[in-house]
Amino acid sequence: MASSSSSSAKRNTALSFFPLLLLSLFGSAFAGNIVKTLPGYPGPLPFTLETGYISVGEVEFFYYFVHSQGKPASDPVLLYMNGGPGCTGLNGFIFQTGPLKFNLSDYTGGLPTLLNEPNAWTKTSNIIYLDAPVGAGFSYATTAASYSSDDSLTAQQIHIFVRKWLIEYPSFQSNPFFIASDSYAGIITPMLAQNILQGNEALITPLVRLKGYVLSCPHTDTDVETNSKIPFAHRMTLISDALYKAVKTSCNDYYVESTSANCTEDLAAVNECIELINRQNILEPYCAFLSPESHEAFKISIICSWIYGSLIQACKQLFMFAL
Ligand SMILES: *[C@@H]1O[C@H](CO)[C@@H](O)[C@H](O)[C@H]1NC(C)=O
Ligand SMILES: *[C@@H]1O[C@H](CO)[C@@H](O)[C@H](O)[C@H]1NC(C)=O
Repeated sequence: MASSSSSSAKRNTALSFFPLLLLSLFGSAFAGNIVKTLPGYPGPLPFTLETGYISVGEVEFFYYFVHSQGKPASDPVLLYMNGGPGCTGLNGFIFQTGPLKFNLSDYTGGLPTLLNEPNAWTKTSNIIYLDAPVGAGFSYATTAASYSSDDSLTAQQIHIFVRKWLIEYPSFQSNPFFIASDSYAGIITPMLAQNILQGNEALITPLVRLKGYVLSCPHTDTDVETNSKIPFAHRMTLISDALYKAVKTSCNDYYVESTSANCTEDLAAVNECIELINRQNILEPYCAFLSPESHEAFKISIICSWIYGSLIQACKQLFMFAL
C-alpha cells in the first residue's frame, strides 16, 4: 500500500501542481488520488479509498480517506488518529478500524496478503486516517524548522487540516463529524475538539458538525494513570486485599514515586505480582505481538502465556497463604 500511495504522493511540486490546478478549475467529487487496487489484495478494492495531502502552513498532512461502505452521504465522518506520538494512520486502518487486515494465516514473510475485515467501522462511517503529527507516516514539513512540534501546536494544525479537508470535500460538510483516536492521541483529541468548538463559535467556515469524540485506551495524564494502576490491579485481583491495604496506607494513595521506606517495599511487592502481566490488556499474554506473527513467535507467546499464567497463580497462592 505504502508504495502505491507514496510514489504518487512524493511527486515533485511542479508535477503535482498540474492536477491541483485542474481540480480547482473543474471541481471534483474526489480531492485526493483514488486508489483502486493494493498490492496483496486480489482485484479492485470493494470500497472507495482516496489518499492525499492537505497543507497547513509549511506542513503537508497525508491522509487515507475511506468512504463509508454504508450510506456515505449521510454516515458520520470520523477523523481517526493514532498514538505514539508518531504512529501512522495506516496502523488504525490495518490493525484497528479499517476495511482491510493482514492475512496472518501461515505467514512466512514477504509481502503480506490483505483480507476484508467484516467488522470495519467503515461499514457505517467515512473515516479519515491521518498521519500526524508532522513527520508521522507520509506527513512532512517543507522546512526543517517546521518539523519541530508539540501537542498544542499539533492540535492547532489538525484543526486547520479539518476545515481545509471539508473545503476539499464539500459534499461531506453536512455529515455529523467525530474524532476518534487511540493511545497517545488521547492527549491531542480533547484539545482538537476544543479548538474546533471555539472555531465554530467564532463562525470560522466551513462549520465542523462535531458531535463527539472517541478515545480508545487513551493516554491522558501520566500521574493519574500511574496512580490508577494499583486500584485497578486490586480490582482485577492481581494483588491481594492485604497488599492493597498496606500499599494504600504506606504510599498515601500516591504511587508516582515512593515517599517512604514502607511505600518502596510495598510497591516492590505489587510489582512482583504484576511485572509479567501485559499492561495493555491483562487478559493477553505478555509476549504476544501485534505485528504479523511467525510460527516461532506464536509458539513463544503460548509458552509465555503459560509461564505468566502459572506465575499469577503462584503469586495469588502466596498472598492467600500470607492472609
Ligand atoms: C492467507 O495466506 C496464506 C499463506 O500465504 C494462503 O495460503 C491463504 O490462501 C491466504 N488466505 C486468503 C484468504 O487469501
Ligand atoms: C512500616 O512498616 C512496619 C512493618 O509493617 C511498621 O511497624 C511501621 O510502623 C511502618 N512505618 C511507618 C512509618 O508507618
